[in-house]
Amino acid sequence: MIAILLGAPGVGKGTQAVRLADETGAAHVSTGDLLRTARRQGTELGRKAQSYMDAGELVPDGLILDLVREHLTTLPRTSDVLLDGFPRTIAQAEGLDDALDEVGLEVGRVVLFEAPDETLVKRLAGRRTCTKCGAVYNTYFGPPERDGVCDRCGGELVQRPDDEPQTVRRRLEVYTEQTEPLIAYYENHDTAELVRIEADRLPEAVFEDFRQVVGGGTPA
Ligand code: AP5
Repeated sequence: MIAILLGAPGVGKGTQAVRLADETGAAHVSTGDLLRTARRQGTELGRKAQSYMDAGELVPDGLILDLVREHLTTLPRTSDVLLDGFPRTIAQAEGLDDALDEVGLEVGRVVLFEAPDETLVKRLAGRRTCTKCGAVYNTYFGPPERDGVCDRCGGELVQRPDDEPQTVRRRLEVYTEQTEPLIAYYENHDTAELVRIEADRLPEAVFEDFRQVVGGGTPA
């Protein structure tokens, strides 16, 4: 099954995808993570993406579609795929449909995570990520035992630069302007079924619904 995780910045897509991938062995494909890796490695893509990401804008569709197409060819044909943060525009969704069509695959489920803006802003303000192992914490909702130190590996916890308040405001606007139209796109899609999940709840409660939905069921 190819499932798309759709929802605003901070709604918990990454948190849920990592957990389901750990549990089921599904491939977790996060375009945000792929771009951050490209930036750390100083690749041409990383350099091109930098200014867009720092400003809270979307990276151009052509770059993202090339990145995803290339990454998908590295995955075993049999694996379930969780697309996190992609597609984010109608052009990306159409590009994905074309790419999958060429290899006889299709999108199965689109999971739309929903939470109010106040929740998103607080979650993004409190997010801290380990520089060594990538574990994600939240100073309000899931803090580490020692301030600034990863429980798992002892690495340093840092704030993502695009989680600064003014960039968060722009990312939320960009979501409304460019990504929300995907809801109607997938409501009218030939193969994909869009399912909504109330994400303003404890991570465990959200996960119960998410696991069920990606397994083909409906939220409890
Ligand atoms: P990306 O990295 O994809 O960021 P995003 O979509 O803005 O999503 P986030 O990672 O901010 O949030 P999330 O929903 O994964 O939440 P998380 O689980 O971490 O993209 C970054 C940038 O890259 C973009 O702005 C753009 O420039 C570029 N980009 C990426 N993809 C692109 C594309 N397809 N096209 C063009 N450009 C692209 O949770 C957030 C926090 O809340 C964490 O601290 C977590 O611990 C906590 N939390 C999670 N769930 C709960 C819960 N239920 N209760 C309490 N706390 C919770």
